[in-house]
Amino acid sequence: MSEDRYLTFALGKGRLANKTLELLEEIGITCEEMKDKNSRKLIFVNEDLKLRFFLSKGPDVPTYVEYGVADIGVVGRDTIIEENRNVYEVLDLGFGKCRMCVCGPSSARELLKHHERIRVASKYPNIAKDYFYNKKHQTVDIIKLNGSVELGPLVELSDVIVDIVETGSTLRENGLEVLEEVCPLSARMIVNPVSMQMETERIRKLITDIRSRLEQKQI
Ligand code: PRP
Repeated sequence: MSEDRYLTFALGKGRLANKTLELLEEIGITCEEMKDKNSRKLIFVNEDLKLRFFLSKGPDVPTYVEYGVADIGVVGRDTIIEENRNVYEVLDLGFGKCRMCVCGPSSARELLKHHERIRVASKYPNIAKDYFYNKKHQTVDIIKLNGSVELGPLVELSDVIVDIVETGSTLRENGLEVLEEVCPLSARMIVNPVSMQMETERIRKLITDIRSRLEQKQI
């Protein structure tokens, strides 16, 4: 493929994008104009390396990658599973580690044992549905929320929630606890299947460089 073609990255705005840029810098890929924290720009270019970066909302990253407007994306595994897009997941980047869990007041523990029809609030309705229907074989009512999901059981909208737990402080401060673990999560690199074929060499090199750097960091 032509050397003039830009390789495009879609990064989920915020902490994941910052961590990704740190990692890329460690393997010699920089994008100076992205370092301006006050900038509201969304697209950044490194002309020398023929790289383009754009910042999007996390859940949109797999969409950009599936449609091929970004060759590569970095996003949490939670979003990859929830969005279920046609992308290759090629690398666990090791940061952004947390867990997807069923959480609630300790009194809700019993409700999970007896296949009762309960209400489950979540920002991740597909993950919640898959867990309860396919793994636990428990019929539940899923209620989609967009954030501050811990409110669900507190205001009695739901019995439990399916949400991300990192330090556990949001749960503790609201009198809730982890009742069951759904799956571990971390930041992943995803690639568009066509880009993988058209730009095999550049993408393979990038993956190899990042993997070696991650291995060095673990030593
Ligand atoms: C996430 C998640 C939990 C919290 C967990 O929310 O949904 O609420 O972080 O982190 P902790 O275990 O370290 O307390 P986020 O801050 O992304 O905001 P949101 O509630 O709007 O989704």
